[in-house]
Amino acid sequence: MTRRFLFLTSSARPEGNALLLARAAAASVNDPVQWIDLTDPPLPPYRDLRPGHAMPQGPLDDILQAMCASTDIVFVAPIYWYALPAPAKLLLDHWSGWLDAPESGFADWAKRKRIHLITARADPDPSVPDLPEAMLKRSIQWLGMDWAGALHGIGEAPGDILNDRAAMKAAKRFLASPEGA
Ligand SMILES: Cc1cc2nc3c(=O)[nH]c(=O)nc-3n(C[C@H](O)[C@H](O)[C@H](O)COP(=O)(O)O)c2cc1C
Repeated sequence: MTRRFLFLTSSARPEGNALLLARAAAASVNDPVQWIDLTDPPLPPYRDLRPGHAMPQGPLDDILQAMCASTDIVFVAPIYWYALPAPAKLLLDHWSGWLDAPESGFADWAKRKRIHLITARADPDPSVPDLPEAMLKRSIQWLGMDWAGALHGIGEAPGDILNDRAAMKAAKRFLASPEGA
């Protein structure tokens, strides 16, 4: 079965560590790959209009279409304050609006999409990514998506992550085919 990967990047700087680690993971993929930067263009603020959201427009609609067409969605995120960066969290908030717009079909097609997480952080303490990983995992499982795992690397200045040999090595296998796919 052909997989289609969608990488959602969310760093506040270009060519950052999370992106470099994600590129290393993407290099092992032979299936179609699409990249969307959640910071450019910036996503609009989320407004809670329940009940009665309209269909998403503009960049949000682009993301919805790309997600719908993908089998595997990879969140690529620096750790900011023990959390996902705001643009990634903001996308999750918009998913609430999509759920409230039944014509989006989101509640149905989201099920069984595989969700991956790739992070970069400065602090080598291995527990630092625990909270963002748990938050994302629990949220996507609530939606019926499948948790496909996380890859965490360490680096502070851009490019540092290339020296995290364990993470760079793990990246080569991180997006390997799930059993039976
Ligand atoms: C706003 C902000 C908050 C940060 N918070 C943390 C943190 O809580 N823990 C940590 O280990 N590193 C933290 N960092 C460091 C970044 O995670 C680190 O520099 C990482 O390599 C950035 O990834 P990027 O190059 O992909 O943007 C923070 C950096 C910024 C700018």
